[in-house]
Amino acid sequence: MRRAVCPGSFDPATFGHVDIVRRASRLFDEVIVAVGTNVSKNRLFDADERITMMRRACADLSNVSVEGFTGLVTTFCAERDVDAIVKGLRAASDFDYELQMAQMNSSLTGVETVFIPTSPERGFVSSSLVKEVAGFGGDVSSFVPGFVHDLLKERLA
Ligand code: PNS
Repeated sequence: MRRAVCPGSFDPATFGHVDIVRRASRLFDEVIVAVGTNVSKNRLFDADERITMMRRACADLSNVSVEGFTGLVTTFCAERDVDAIVKGLRAASDFDYELQMAQMNSSLTGVETVFIPTSPERGFVSSSLVKEVAGFGGDVSSFVPGFVHDLLKERLA
């Protein structure tokens, strides 16, 4: 049984996140989406809202579950006998930070990180940009699931 964790803040869930989780679910027997908090980012949705969002966005993926976590992602992985952390890479600009995290996580517990290149049509989509565009009234409906679009409109009204 190969088990992977897809960690992130998912604030909010985008089609880019779902794309990576979907592709990880084909590579691993079981995938746990770990909804955490990025201490260096301001958040729009609280942890429960982000967990619910990812559960709904991944509802059609039978080998995917969604859990919240606090503390280190390596602790979360060690407690669940996880084989690998899966992260999406959008562009070279993601690489330095992701490599640093992968090396730190590996040095803490030996957990491996597997990078999946984001689908080109999702390469420019980030939660931060979605929030910025939606905040100024721009149309983000092609970047997030419909229910997330509704939640964004409600929250940013
Ligand atoms: O979607 P994000 O904001 O890039 O997610 C980042 C997240 C939450 C996965 C990362 O900040 C994280 O793993 N936080 C948990 C605390 C931790 O383990 N920090 C050390 C990382 S090397």
